[in-house]
Amino acid sequence: MFQPSPWRADFPAIAALQRQQQTYLDSAATTQKPQALLDAIAHYYSHGAANVHRAQHLPGAMATQAFEGSREKIAQWLNAPSPSQIIFTHGATSALNLLAYGLENEFRPGDEIAISALEHHANLLPWQQLAQRRGVKLVILPLTAGGMIDLDSAAALIGPRTRLLAVSQLSNVLGTWQPLDSLLAMARAQDALTVVDGAQGVVHGRHDVQQLDCDFYVFSSHKLYGPDGLGALYGSCRGLGRLQHWQFGGEMVHTADYHVASFHPAPLGFEAGTPPIASVIGLSASLDYLGGLDTKAVLAHEAALHRQLLRGLHDREGVRVVGDPQAALASFTVDGVHNADLAHLLTDQGIAVRAGHHCAMPLLKRLGLQGAIRVSLALYNDSDDLQRFFEALDKALEMLR
Ligand code: ALA
Repeated sequence: MFQPSPWRADFPAIAALQRQQQTYLDSAATTQKPQALLDAIAHYYSHGAANVHRAQHLPGAMATQAFEGSREKIAQWLNAPSPSQIIFTHGATSALNLLAYGLENEFRPGDEIAISALEHHANLLPWQQLAQRRGVKLVILPLTAGGMIDLDSAAALIGPRTRLLAVSQLSNVLGTWQPLDSLLAMARAQDALTVVDGAQGVVHGRHDVQQLDCDFYVFSSHKLYGPDGLGALYGSCRGLGRLQHWQFGGEMVHTADYHVASFHPAPLGFEAGTPPIASVIGLSASLDYLGGLDTKAVLAHEAALHRQLLRGLHDREGVRVVGDPQAALASFTVDGVHNADLAHLLTDQGIAVRAGHHCAMPLLKRLGLQGAIRVSLALYNDSDDLQRFFEALDKALEMLR
């Protein structure tokens, strides 16, 4: 049955891509943007750009008001208790690096940091490097066959030495929602800090950081239909209280002399230098746009497309879906076919999907894969997009077999 997207026309790039015979199925890498975002950024730049928190003049006051308004919107979006608990970063990766440096003094040799086997490099490498700097052990929580973090193993591995648990909410390779309630409860019982990488999860449905009861939650704007170069870090009062300043410069400083300085608390104390002001204003417009949609209808639409995607993949001989995806995406391999060859032929037919290790090399290795093709969906996709993908897949496989 044809599954149209009622929101497709709100994203001008989708029509532009279609004119170039491109079918965009790589939204887990980055999303296309709603017209509302384009208008907001054009308005900001065409009515007077100014730096924030620095000037008394009118453009400065307007920019600061729009910038802080966006912080408030993000706090509401995540149900954070206060906008002062939202720190702007340059993306989820830089938020996780901020944490790995800002929390460094929390760790002593012999302590443990627990992550899972499915983490994106962004939620692996900052902790790996911190572990090396501090003589800390990095504990890897194993997965079930379906691609969930295994709770029995986690219960055995999260213990009194665990000082921090950092896990993804929704896997960017496997499309599995992780059992965060149970995992975070295990960490809390050990008084460990908890970090949730919401880069993929934040895009699908609404998530409440108070309900999650995590210390930190990070996401990237560009995956949430917002501009790139921007991310956000939510911190609980306990988490933010443990964070040391890590980057130094303008905006974050309270008083400075040649040999001594004092710094603002969060959020400004963690936003050294000029922030990506236009992107912050753009994200605010994207959240307004998304906030005006019926979340249930969006999720139902994405779920219907996801079922169509999985059915089509499972129906094809030799196609193996990686894990047991629950939402938004599916990664797959084809028996006897190299994923790079297949990706090449799909690209030639105008199908934009991602191929390779998906920034999760250790996971792919653990699964015994050199790479996989990933199809990922967003609210602007429709079943014709998937139809075109399957036609291209069949044609490519005919050529390769
Ligand atoms: N993290 C993004 C992805 O999974 C780039 O494709």
